Amino acid sequence: MDGNGRWAKKRFLPRYIGHQKGRNAVRKVVAHCAKRGVKALTLFAFSTENWRRPQDEVSKLMDLFLQALQKEVGKLHENNVRLRVIGDRAGFSETIQSHILQAEQLTQANTGLALNIAANYGGRWDVLEAIKAWQVAHPNQTPADLTEADLAPYLCLAELPEPDLLIRTGGEQRISNFLIWQMAYAEFYFTDTLWPDFNEASLDEAINSFARRERRFGQTSEQIS
Ligand code: IPE
Ligand code: MG
Repeated sequence: MDGNGRWAKKRFLPRYIGHQKGRNAVRKVVAHCAKRGVKALTLFAFSTENWRRPQDEVSKLMDLFLQALQKEVGKLHENNVRLRVIGDRAGFSETIQSHILQAEQLTQANTGLALNIAANYGGRWDVLEAIKAWQVAHPNQTPADLTEADLAPYLCLAELPEPDLLIRTGGEQRISNFLIWQMAYAEFYFTDTLWPDFNEASLDEAINSFARRERRFGQTSEQIS
């Protein structure tokens, strides 16, 4: 979800206003995904690298995260959304951690949209954690025995199908340490739209673009048809 800062700057507003506006875009996109029958949505809210931002911005982002957990979760629950947070949550305050846990417990049996918030998440972190967890679970095996299929269950989002579509807003064309393992065969969609301006129509456009792609997964066009 990129472009909050630039959205604010264009309007001579402080960056955090852009983040606040970004939260409205999240609401719209989550509701629209649920409406369109999207099974899973993962939002990259805060990367392991985002701690390097100015202290004031980081603390504003934490305030927003906490507010969102306090104010939005009830509504998500009513709408049958299952919320999960992926990332190293030990980096967050006790208060935020306990709200994350409550939100996950409250919504865990919901069968609608699987909404994942990537917070203090990094794709490389995810892969390393998976390897460590695999080793703990298999003390008598060595990494020489490890296959992709062995490791997959230890990665974040293992219980969901791999992502079909990556949308990156704000004109940037890079993956920025997002779901690097899980995105191996995802279709990428880039838009100059700044995240606070991203809305239902923007999502429809991305989905339409996705629908026109031919996914070959390494095979030839003839094999697929
Ligand atoms: C994305 O918007 C929000 C977070 C990373 C939390 P940015 O803050 O990166 O916005 P720009 O890139 O400065 O416009
Ligand atoms: Mg940015």
